[in-house]
Amino acid sequence: MGRADKVVLAYSGGVDTSVCIPYMMEEWGVKEIITLAADLGQGEELGPVKQKALDSGASVSLVEDGREEFITDYAFPAIKANALYENRYPLATALARPLIAKMLVRAADKYGADAVAHGCTAKGNDQVRFDLGILAQNPDIKVMAPAREWGMSREETIAYGERFGIPSPVKKSSPYSIDKNLLGRSIEAGPLEDPMCEPPEEIFEMVKAISDTPDEPEYLEIGFEKGIPTTVNGEALAPIELIETLNKIVGGHGVGRVDMIENRVVGIKSREIYESPAMEVLIKAHRDLESLTLTADVTQYKRGMEETYTHMIYRGLWFSPLKQALDAFIEQTQERVSGVIRIKLFKGNATIVGRRSEKSIYTPDLATYGADDKFDHKAAEGFIYIWGLPTRVWAQANK
Ligand code: ARG
Repeated sequence: MGRADKVVLAYSGGVDTSVCIPYMMEEWGVKEIITLAADLGQGEELGPVKQKALDSGASVSLVEDGREEFITDYAFPAIKANALYENRYPLATALARPLIAKMLVRAADKYGADAVAHGCTAKGNDQVRFDLGILAQNPDIKVMAPAREWGMSREETIAYGERFGIPSPVKKSSPYSIDKNLLGRSIEAGPLEDPMCEPPEEIFEMVKAISDTPDEPEYLEIGFEKGIPTTVNGEALAPIELIETLNKIVGGHGVGRVDMIENRVVGIKSREIYESPAMEVLIKAHRDLESLTLTADVTQYKRGMEETYTHMIYRGLWFSPLKQALDAFIEQTQERVSGVIRIKLFKGNATIVGRRSEKSIYTPDLATYGADDKFDHKAAEGFIYIWGLPTRVWAQANK
């Protein structure tokens, strides 16, 4: 690891990121460390986190509110792209990383730091997202990842920290690795490493167990404007509020849990549990509104783009030219994606039961089986004659 004098470190308040501070100073000769805790709606008190960084040896401890930017610049584009990794994971953790990378580089510029650092280990996706996100913002800045290199076990890390006055965790630390923000929670490790182990109820916070959900269904209407969710039950809500409101309503009905074996960037398969109530329902509703407002060819072509886009988010390529080009395509398609989706929430299901849009291209007088049908039935025969010609020729030849 090359030398750096002044480093901005992504800080969570946990033991590992705290130990990064004395470690980089002692082992790597870093002179000054500025920590940055990004508030992305993890709902944790960041006041104590701020002090903890100073107690661990940071010279400046920044806490920055990135919530609004997170929703408008990261979650909303993902919704427009109907982004679900391997068809299920709404990317709550993956979307946060490029924003944190951007915040780190901004702070490094402001404080004249020559490196940025994060506490990710060598086996995860987050190291890839941080490293690439940082590089894309500033290709000349050094990225330091002490926890990727130090090779200490959990116990050794705690013991190392204690030498520098970092208190070991008071409660017996949880066996799980949990990442949390406004868009959801990602839970892994501990007993969950056994793919047969049913997730214990205690790991969930945002989505209720079916046994605790109401016995009556609840209807929910989500309004979109050009692909962006703007209203809940007719009420206009600002981005953060909208996500919080939906997390509560949707999670309350047991909707938004995912349990999957996922393919990581580094080639490892891992067992992951997610809860992302708002994102899950928003993507489902958005996709439905597209089916009402987009032509068949745009809808179908966009599916392939969505797959690529989703992979790019997962694989740390948020800031890349292809992703930017896909953004332009997706943005163009959203021009008419405005309207309202009606959803019935009940016992773990979010069922779309209605949709309306002033931009709808659903045409009742073409679709109807009733008397006011405007479809030219005579045209069907000629269409099938021509459409079927290659099939007829081929069948003749193979008779
Ligand atoms: N597997 C998920 C992802 O790559 C979640 C990672 C969770 N991170 C964590 N530090 N627990 O997006």
